[in-house]
Amino acid sequence: MSVHSEDTRKVTTHRLYEMKQRGEKISMLTAYDYTMANILDQAGIDVLLVGDSAANVMAGYVTTLPMTLDQMIYHGASVMRGVSRALVAVDMPFGSYQGNSKEAFAAAVRIMKETGADCLKLEGGAEILESVNRILSAGIPIMGHLGLTPQSINKFGTYTVRAKEEAEANKLIEDAILLEQAGCFAIVLEKIPAALAERVANIVKIPIIGIGAGGGTDGQVLVVHDMLGMNSKNFSPRFLRKYADLRNIMTGAVENYIRDVKSGDFPNEKEQY
Ligand code: KIV
Repeated sequence: MSVHSEDTRKVTTHRLYEMKQRGEKISMLTAYDYTMANILDQAGIDVLLVGDSAANVMAGYVTTLPMTLDQMIYHGASVMRGVSRALVAVDMPFGSYQGNSKEAFAAAVRIMKETGADCLKLEGGAEILESVNRILSAGIPIMGHLGLTPQSINKFGTYTVRAKEEAEANKLIEDAILLEQAGCFAIVLEKIPAALAERVANIVKIPIIGIGAGGGTDGQVLVVHDMLGMNSKNFSPRFLRKYADLRNIMTGAVENYIRDVKSGDFPNEKEQY
């Protein structure tokens, strides 16, 4: 078990709420497969997000829009098989909940039944409230996501910081209150000014998890490939802290393997039957 917590009990939405109340920060990372999920869970991470950022880091797409419901279910079920403690949230993919709340409900039920995940994450505020209400009415916990919402990248046209202007900041606050009142158990705030994120975290009672939203939130989330330094060196937004340089380590290991195969050094006598 982790050095960070002696508590091996399953993390629940209620326990996240208690963490906020006692001022304990919530740690969250993305995961998309069994092995990585197992490593992160054993290290003691509180929340794992099966993010639709799988589109970028697992499938090599430029945006998150191509992810399908079946693909999210595949990733969600893989992660669930590796986890015993962390709360696992699965992103609802683009197009599965924005149009029609009945379809949103059917997609939500499929994810919950076929992955065994604990909860779902949906991007947006007032405009998706009908779907949020319908899914919540079935007892499925929802994590909201406001600020930079990557599924709307074609509307924004850029990945720069959101809600710098007063009108957008006010709408974000209203949306956060709306999501809390609807019954969402937490909200991710992505790439917004730190002062605004801290304000929202003080206004609502549910946990606010930030990514590029400063230190005043109740927890932090990063894409695991980014924080482990697996992505191309060109991707280094200001908010990203790299905790390892796995890309270099892995490249070195593979280069050594290639050299050993080419030279006939691998396998040696002890490595064969
Ligand atoms: O899909 C994702 O990885 C996310 C995080 C950036 C919060 O939504």
